[in-house]
Amino acid sequence: MEKLRIALPLFGLLLLAAACNKKADFNYYYYEPADYALISQHLNLPEIPDDYRAQLPTHIANLGLAARPVEQDKAILGRVLFYDKSLSKDGTISCASCHKQELAFSDNAKVSTGVFNRAGDRNSIALGSVLNFSAYYGTDLFGPSGVPFFWDNRAGTATEQNLASMTNPKEMDMSHSDIVSAVQSKAYYAPLFKMAFGSEQINSERVSDAIAEFVNAIGSYKSKFDKEAEKAIGYNVYSNNEYKSFSGFTAQENAGKNLFLANCASCHSPTQSRPAKMKANNGLDIATTDAGVGGITGVSADQGTFKVPLLRNIEITAPYMHDGRFATLEEVVEHYNSGIQAHPNLSEELRAPGGGPLRLNLSENDKKALVAFLKTLTDTELIADTRFSNPFK
Ligand code: HEC
Ligand code: HEC
Repeated sequence: MEKLRIALPLFGLLLLAAACNKKADFNYYYYEPADYALISQHLNLPEIPDDYRAQLPTHIANLGLAARPVEQDKAILGRVLFYDKSLSKDGTISCASCHKQELAFSDNAKVSTGVFNRAGDRNSIALGSVLNFSAYYGTDLFGPSGVPFFWDNRAGTATEQNLASMTNPKEMDMSHSDIVSAVQSKAYYAPLFKMAFGSEQINSERVSDAIAEFVNAIGSYKSKFDKEAEKAIGYNVYSNNEYKSFSGFTAQENAGKNLFLANCASCHSPTQSRPAKMKANNGLDIATTDAGVGGITGVSADQGTFKVPLLRNIEITAPYMHDGRFATLEEVVEHYNSGIQAHPNLSEELRAPGGGPLRLNLSENDKKALVAFLKTLTDTELIADTRFSNPFK
């Protein structure tokens, strides 16, 4: 007995030694020691590089979606750039200023504040589900045939998107050469560019490429909803009209799920993986105040239509809608219940049989159930995931 008590820890030590030894392979020397010393003066990047590969849950994979192959070295660099405030004209704003990890990469202001305290035009969009729709259906892989970015769908790829943010006068207000000089002025970027691109050369395409790789790796698929959907595999939410209950949901959450599948999923996706519709008018106003997609395409049927956002992490991404008009999920549900306006481009799904705005006439319990269901979409692992956190010391 005594022998075993000594032998076991010894065996443990041996295992530990073996594990340490294993570190002495390629990964351990990911960075040249001198580079890592330089990097570590400014950044908290782990010596063994973070792994950005993702494994989507089977309930999403079964739809033919797979995680986009991420170029790890670019994502590592992209993370630093995403949090770097020197990529803005006045040095106060980074991507993360308006896309905060603790808010699933959204912002709690109605409209975000950019450089020189300039107010933006629309509400920031949560990035917590980019990965969930990026593979196969985009983003950069399939270009404009993928799920487009922005409330008005104006950017086809994550690369196009982030250059637009960096150069937007109301956001970061940088020219391409401003971007290059800002990055060049920091010595620790040279080794990171070398890892990502094979050479230290810095240009705005590379900056944008690396940020896009990081953004494309941000995925949320570990919510309570996902865990339950995994357990219910084999059941096809698209074709089955009898909505199956999730065993780990409360009765209220299951009731909310059924209401969601019946009234909301035709646009927002039953599986929260890729929006079922790319654009719609959801009856916020009777007249067009912001042309949305129509402002880009010029097509009259697009006037006042907007991107259909995925609702992952919706509990923590208030305020809601393109202009941030609703502060709470209760207000959103009341909008769909009783507040839909007869905009000329109001979507079919939200019209009553006569063509007028639909009234759901939900009971108080129904409304509470819908909100309870929406709260099952929160992914607390994503907001705590250090691979996506601020690396600056
Ligand atoms: C000043 C605030 C601000 C900054 C800085 C900012 N964004 Fe945004 N971001 C927004 C707003 C607002 C929107 C929605 C704008 C619109 O649709 O017109 C948005 C939209 C996006 C989207 C589209 C998401 C989708 O699903 O359609 C992505 C991706 C994104 N931003 C990434 C970035 C990256 C990467 C950076 C840094 C290069 C960045 N943002 C900097 C405020 C900001
Ligand atoms: C016709 C398609 C359609 C249907 C049906 C629909 N929505 Fe929406 N939803 C949209 C569009 C489009 C937006 C963005 C509108 C905007 O900002 O102008 C949106 C926005 C939202 C938002 C805000 C998202 C954010 O990030 O700000 C929530 C929450 C939401 N919908 C929940 C629901 C719920 C709950 C239902 C069912 C009761 C529902 N939706 C039904 C199209 C739809």
